[in-house]
Amino acid sequence: MTRAQTLLVLTLLLVLPGPALLAHDGRQQWPVPYRRFDRRPPADPYCEALYPFCPTGDRDGRIPDMRDGDVISVYRLQAPVWEFKYGDVMGKAHIMHDAIGFSSLESGANFTAEWYELFQLGNCTFPHVRPEVRAPSWCNQGAACFYQGIDDAHWAQNGTLEKIGELTGSQFNAAARWLQDDNATGIYYETWTVRSDRGANATVWFESYDCSQFVHRAYRKLTELGCKLSSRSQTNYTKIYLYSGEPTYLGNDSAIFGQPALKNVAAAIRDFYGAFRPHQSPAELAASLLRVYEKVVLEKSFYLYYNFEYWHLAMKPPYLHLSYEEMPLP
Ligand SMILES: *[C@@H]1O[C@H](CO)[C@@H](O)[C@H](O)[C@H]1NC(C)=O
Ligand SMILES: *[C@@H]1O[C@H](CO)[C@@H](O)[C@H](O)[C@H]1NC(C)=O
Ligand SMILES: *[C@@H]1O[C@H](CO)[C@@H](O)[C@H](O)[C@H]1NC(C)=O
Ligand SMILES: *[C@@H]1O[C@H](CO)[C@@H](O)[C@H](O)[C@H]1NC(C)=O
Ligand SMILES: *[C@@H]1O[C@H](CO)[C@@H](O)[C@H](O)[C@H]1NC(C)=O
Ligand SMILES: *[C@@H]1O[C@H](CO)[C@@H](O)[C@H](O)[C@H]1NC(C)=O
Ligand SMILES: *[C@@H]1O[C@H](CO)[C@@H](O)[C@H](O)[C@H]1NC(C)=O
Repeated sequence: MTRAQTLLVLTLLLVLPGPALLAHDGRQQWPVPYRRFDRRPPADPYCEALYPFCPTGDRDGRIPDMRDGDVISVYRLQAPVWEFKYGDVMGKAHIMHDAIGFSSLESGANFTAEWYELFQLGNCTFPHVRPEVRAPSWCNQGAACFYQGIDDAHWAQNGTLEKIGELTGSQFNAAARWLQDDNATGIYYETWTVRSDRGANATVWFESYDCSQFVHRAYRKLTELGCKLSSRSQTNYTKIYLYSGEPTYLGNDSAIFGQPALKNVAAAIRDFYGAFRPHQSPAELAASLLRVYEKVVLEKSFYLYYNFEYWHLAMKPPYLHLSYEEMPLP
């Protein structure tokens, strides 16, 4: 850190109220708990989906009731993300998408449950810095999509389609109510997992909140409901890590962008995310990548948005790491 940055951080520590979530002894709890909301607010009208969210799902997220005597098979579904023009690269880099399948023995009907971004991954990872709006605009909502059908070919051909357990009808119905509640209270997508280092005993500062975390929350819930899950193969999931020293709390939008006292922090955040904006020409993108490198690697700085609040990360090598690693079934 330069002296100016050190001074800035010290000033921040003095003037800012403490983080919203403190452990009982008053110390910061790590990882910072993902904030749950009472209900999902409407998305910012600025956010426009290029592809509609959950086009074949029920508009109100309704899930059919199953009879208790029914047997519901549970499937682990995984396939590479084929996002935009990156195509094959995403598959090769093991950027995988995870979902859960259910099929009813009685009716033969089957269903897919997945959790993903309302406005695509780029919009959940980087905000839009607009000249006319002070705070960066985040289109970062994520939600559950439950729809009829399992596209066997899509999952089985380049990924995984494996039966991992069975539920009774009433266990399924309880899981459906949990899913709807989880969907209403966990409203935003978080791409990054932030850790202190790559060692086994690293401190996790922030956990991601994405499709694979959803699948694991659901597996834990199914287990809690009495379902036994087992897989023949390893269950690996994509994680995108950032590495940093202990994060510094900065504040929410109104604290940072509504107060002249924090105008330097506000400017630093705008400048930082200005470098990452989505939709750029190749020349702009090359210039942006250079600035990203400068900020993250040379200035060792990253501004994380978590729970709709900003944190400063003092980045350290290896800075960023994409991993495809095992998260065993519960
Ligand atoms: C990201 O959000 C912007 C702003 O609403 C929108 O124009 C764009 O279509 C979104 N991108 C995708 C891939 O949905
Ligand atoms: C989850 O929330 C989204 C956004 O409001 C909604 O479109 C979807 O139907 C909901 N899904 C479930 C399963 O409740
Ligand atoms: C789901 O249902 C479709 C249509 O009946 C069928 O083709 C497919 O094999 C089923 N998949 C699973 C995993 O049950
Ligand atoms: C599987 O991968 C191949 C090439 O990598 C691609 O052409 C094909 O469309 C993929 N299949 C599915 C169902 O996504
Ligand atoms: C991690 O912590 C455990 C228990 O404190 C210790 O036995 C182990 O050696 C540590 N491992 C590393 C890689 O530091
Ligand atoms: C933003 O932070 C301030 C100060 O910590 C707090 O009073 C305010 O309620 C927060 N606003 C929102 C929308 O969370
Ligand atoms: C799955 O994860 C394990 C442990 O995290 C790793 O050793 C293995 O190579 C991974 N498998 C693949 C296909 O990447």
